[in-house]
Amino acid sequence: MVPSASPWMAAWFECFKFHSDYDPLEENTLKIAVSGKGGVGKTTLSAFLVKWFAEQGKNVLAVDADPDANLANGLGIRNTGEIVPIAKMKELVAERTESVPGSFGGFFRMNPKVDDLPEKLAIRSGDRIRLMVMGGVKKGGMGCVCPESILLKNLVQHLILRRDDVVIMDMEAGIEHLGRGTSQSVDCLLVVVEPGRRSLETAAKIKELAADIGLSRIALVGNKVRGEKDRQFLLDNMAEYRFLGFIPYDEQIIEADLKGEFAENMTAETRKALEEIGNNVSGMSAAGPPSSL
Ligand SMILES: Nc1ncnc2c1ncn2[C@@H]1O[C@H](COP(=O)(O)OP(=O)(O)OP(=O)(O)O)[C@@H](O)[C@H]1O
Ligand SMILES: [Mg+2]
Repeated sequence: MVPSASPWMAAWFECFKFHSDYDPLEENTLKIAVSGKGGVGKTTLSAFLVKWFAEQGKNVLAVDADPDANLANGLGIRNTGEIVPIAKMKELVAERTESVPGSFGGFFRMNPKVDDLPEKLAIRSGDRIRLMVMGGVKKGGMGCVCPESILLKNLVQHLILRRDDVVIMDMEAGIEHLGRGTSQSVDCLLVVVEPGRRSLETAAKIKELAADIGLSRIALVGNKVRGEKDRQFLLDNMAEYRFLGFIPYDEQIIEADLKGEFAENMTAETRKALEEIGNNVSGMSAAGPPSSL
């Protein structure tokens, strides 16, 4: 049995209130990674945050780091079939890592040049949003090191450590693109959970993986919440985590997904919940108030 979350939550909100005059958005460098079990709503949340930060006047780099990429759809970008993920750009991977295309083993560069890639490869969506689609790397067992994965890892490191944008990364349940050197600069690992045991188990595993690389700024977002009972289920079962908000179950999100569009028509309640999450995410800046975790 886990203790009730309410005193803990109250303490955290106090802490948050105390720092409420701090405006992290004056800094333009928020780095957010979104993870969670398959189908839990990572892309939905990432797409909203990308749009929301752009509406706040920020330059946003959306990074689709899920091998089964669909953030472009979530953002409502058309002709997504034409997008070539970076891991599939064989010539680029070979050129930058000085490897032989398609070969396994052999020598290759561990520190390929990547700083020009955002400008060259990101897809524009409006004035402030750009999207980079990373693509998947075939795994050859644990600890696979291949030119594609080295290029992606270096690129993610560059985006997190060097870019002066808000970076939102839509990841899979694993967080393998993040390494120890990068994790210190991730302002927040957002783990999406839904009312259900499996999603909670995945969240616990993600927390362990994050701890392994020294990433402790973790917060949860509850999604597909059908009412108070669902909300309480999440709070009761994840009492040791910080929740940044709860997104209602909303048919409009599913409708938009079917059309490959951004959910412009989400209900007012959903929008309010997501905006609150956006504001709370801003407060997670590593340069801002200390994390209460
Ligand atoms: N709040 C919500 N209410 C209702 N449906 C939702 C909600 N959030 C997401 N969905 C639906 O759940 C499905 C999965 O959402 P989404 O693609 O965002 O999840 P994901 O975690 O990115 O999935 P994947 O692991 O496949 O990348 C989609 O059909 C989406 O429309
Ligand atoms: Mg997704």
